Amino acid sequence: MSEREQAVTEEVLASFAGTADPRLREIMPALVRHLHGFAREVRLSQGEWEAAIDFLTRAGHITDERRQEFILLSDVLGLSMLTVAINEPDMPGATEATVFGPFFVDGAPEVPLDGDLARGAAGTPCHVSGHVLSADGTPLSGVRLDVWGADEDGFYDVQYPGERSAGRGWQRTGSDGAFRFWTVLPTPYPIPHDGPVGDLLTATGRGPMRPAHLHFKVTAPGHRTLITHIFVAGDPYLDADAVFGVKDSLVVRAEHHRGGEAPDGSRPAGEWTSMAYDLVLVPTADAD
Ligand code: BEZ
Ligand code: FE
Repeated sequence: MSEREQAVTEEVLASFAGTADPRLREIMPALVRHLHGFAREVRLSQGEWEAAIDFLTRAGHITDERRQEFILLSDVLGLSMLTVAINEPDMPGATEATVFGPFFVDGAPEVPLDGDLARGAAGTPCHVSGHVLSADGTPLSGVRLDVWGADEDGFYDVQYPGERSAGRGWQRTGSDGAFRFWTVLPTPYPIPHDGPVGDLLTATGRGPMRPAHLHFKVTAPGHRTLITHIFVAGDPYLDADAVFGVKDSLVVRAEHHRGGEAPDGSRPAGEWTSMAYDLVLVPTADAD
């Protein structure tokens, strides 16, 4: 490193010496060290610096209350999953966490046990069931389970014009910790790729696809909130998730049925599917 380069880095590092907050005093110099190290490693040209600023500017312009290009950038760079991994408690048997994604919205309807949260979302009906358990196997009743998923065309309700709400909802587990609801069978879909993050994927020969999955957020008193998905076994993109969210323990078989009796006692007319999976939460006391 030239003396001139070293002088810049040292001057910037010194500028943070008076940071009052101890965590910020740790984070900012580390950020500067890595950022400067990166620029030195690739011998960043002025034109490349401008291209990076242009990229971030475009990410800012496309971001609004429905579209979050910066989270998408974090996702495709693996930063989201790395942050999940850093913060995941090390407890064998607990359900693994994965990316939150940009499509959760507050205000989804409550759905009773065996209720339908598809509410008009297109796709093959899928009955999803399981139990929410604490790490020692105790069923957790009355626990809030938020669920959201895309339709068979690979779109979430919020990606359609208008205020339509479909393919999402929440329910409380029953006295035995059970959850049971109808939705539509997830299908693989591309992350939004009509913006700068999509351009980055194209320029680097990467694809935008995510394997079929259903999102869960489970909130239970005395336990770490779990944000995860279940993935559909056999999906062709399980090994090529654009956001690196797949974990083997989250891959679940979807059973295909035609006729017969569904778990809720109903007799669906056409083809339907079912998936079963238990969600195991880590008590807050054991989390760190
Ligand atoms: C999702 O699964 O909803 C998602 C996650 C990361 C980026 C885009 C979408
Ligand atoms: Fe998703």
